Amino acid sequence: MSGNAIELHGVSKRYGPFQALYPLDLTVPYGTVFGYLGPNGAGKTTTIRIMTGLLRPTTGSVFIGGLDVHRHPREARRLFSYIPDQGYLYPKMTARELLSFVSAVQDRNSPDPKAVEAALDLVGLRAWADELIEQYSYGMRQRLMFAMAHLRDTPVWIIDEPIIGLDPLAVRMVKTWVRQKAARGHTVFLSTHLLAIAEEVCDTVAVLHQGRLVAVGTMDDLRRAAGAEDRDLEAVFLRLTAESQAATEA
Ligand SMILES: Nc1ncnc2c1ncn2[C@@H]1O[C@H](COP(=O)(O)OP(=O)(O)O)[C@@H](O)[C@H]1O
Ligand SMILES: [Mg+2]
Repeated sequence: MSGNAIELHGVSKRYGPFQALYPLDLTVPYGTVFGYLGPNGAGKTTTIRIMTGLLRPTTGSVFIGGLDVHRHPREARRLFSYIPDQGYLYPKMTARELLSFVSAVQDRNSPDPKAVEAALDLVGLRAWADELIEQYSYGMRQRLMFAMAHLRDTPVWIIDEPIIGLDPLAVRMVKTWVRQKAARGHTVFLSTHLLAIAEEVCDTVAVLHQGRLVAVGTMDDLRRAAGAEDRDLEAVFLRLTAESQAATEA
């Protein structure tokens, strides 16, 4: 795979008078777990919805695997999987039915039963695979979202807040899954407001605050940039966002 997995060029977004994202550039190579870090309301979901082609940016363009997501949506979509923070799941279907349905739609043909069973196993839902989704807990629904994404093997994975509401076992599953993707040369772009997750699974992080990137680099880079090598990452994070706050107010 040549080039970069993901590139954002001057992407910005305004909702009416409100500037949710200021022009932003990002480059994510293949084989990386990239953490998109920021407090609630920073603009993470807005960025991700633009990256996946669901939302038009006010300015700028997004390339996935070298393809402009907004100009060539169909081709670009073959290259990535997207796990939203709140996806819709048909409540009157069972997990196995839904996975078979999604598998069939993706193939425009017939479902791939092997892929469906593998996806159920991956997220540990096999024992509940024939229960109606409306009976599932929040954590089980999140796992089912992962299973859906797993039906296809794409080089790029975009995940919005992957572990909110997950139980510890599922959190471990997600972390392992993420590292395995990167080890195979895939790219995982994940957003989170949780520093601990970024520190554990990400190679590189970007820190977003009030629609502006305040830092990009490895965890070590970040510590150095903040001039706080002796402090924990939370202190670094708080300092970076406080500096950005002071700069906007000045
Ligand atoms: N459709 C929308 N219309 C107006 N404002 C929005 C819309 N979506 C998000 N926002 C605002 O944009 C900002 C960034 O939101 P979001 O991208 O969801 O942040 P995050 O995912 O980092 O929590 C927030 O202030 C939010 O209220
Ligand atoms: Mg969000």
